[in-house]
Amino acid sequence: MPNTILGSLLGWVYRDEVSRIHMRRDQERLQRAANRRAWGQISRHHSSVARPVRVERIERETPDTLSLYLRAEDAAPVNYRAGQFLTCCFVVDGEERRRAYSLSAPAEHGLLRITVKRLPEGRVSAFIHESLKVGDRFRILGPSGDFVLTPDIHQAVFIAAGAGITPIRGLLEALLQREGDARVTLIYASRDEDSIIFRDELDALSRSHPALTLHYVLSQPGKGWEGLRGRLEETRLSALLNGLDDGGRTHFFLCGPEGFLAMAEQSLRALSVAPDHWHEEHFRAAAESTAARPTEAQTVHFEKSGRTVEVAPGQSLLEAGLSAGLPLSFSCQVGGCGHCRVRIIDGDVVSDQPNSLSPEEYRQGYRLACLSYPCNETRVDA
Ligand code: FES
Repeated sequence: MPNTILGSLLGWVYRDEVSRIHMRRDQERLQRAANRRAWGQISRHHSSVARPVRVERIERETPDTLSLYLRAEDAAPVNYRAGQFLTCCFVVDGEERRRAYSLSAPAEHGLLRITVKRLPEGRVSAFIHESLKVGDRFRILGPSGDFVLTPDIHQAVFIAAGAGITPIRGLLEALLQREGDARVTLIYASRDEDSIIFRDELDALSRSHPALTLHYVLSQPGKGWEGLRGRLEETRLSALLNGLDDGGRTHFFLCGPEGFLAMAEQSLRALSVAPDHWHEEHFRAAAESTAARPTEAQTVHFEKSGRTVEVAPGQSLLEAGLSAGLPLSFSCQVGGCGHCRVRIIDGDVVSDQPNSLSPEEYRQGYRLACLSYPCNETRVDA
């Protein structure tokens, strides 16, 4: 067979497989979200109003990770649940940049802790690591996110890689505090001993809670490392998970890079874990590029709400809808969670990229309201 035909055939099979994987993951994600809504056990406290915070303390966790301890400057307490995140609004080189960072510990003396890994090309993480100082101020949105413990969860396995430990750190402690002698396991993949974020805190939790089992899996450990060595890949993860489902009583929490999550999902599928016992937090890069935004106000009809709203230049569909009091669903406000997804019925909108919508969702007319700006009169199915 000529190479070009073989290449096209392989390309077609590959694209078909990738699209099947995306569809399966979308269906599973929707199923899990539907289950959570059906339980009615999650109360979301999303806030679209930015609040000022002051940096009270900065602590280095690993060579490329630090924690910021923050105090809200207004009088109201910031109430949050373990596993939730803050959307932080930093001004970098004169422009506002938003990033979502998980709260990484229970509130301590009223201070909030977020933990930030420096990314190779990350302008905002570089700003935080190099320029942010104690006493500096910035604004936060939220807390938000539904990667939280529901009341029916009594035992859990947490699976994390790298900075994916940040939301899981708080969840682990919250579950141990709530359930006492709950059977809890943490499987945490890192590069080497110095890269284990919160190692002292995790070891201390393990000493005070004998029912907590810790598995650190290091891909490049030093000679003296006596724990698990090598990459945490599917065969090894499945071996570690063996027997932990406990007759369907265990809940599984995953957090890490996309490739790691895809691998871990395979292991959970092999274990036949029910969708409502499986919880994931995705870290996606916040949208950066902004298509040329409309420079004039536009009229937007929110069809389900029966309201017409004027959207100011530079205002997103979400900001305009919320300012008008519409009950729009949202969470991160940086394009990562997909909660603000709306379908555009008529009209043209531009959207910041990249974001968490799949090509299929785009094709069906969906856009993320937090990153989308109307260019002309628009009708939205919301
Ligand atoms: S609110 Fe999260 S993607 Fe828009």
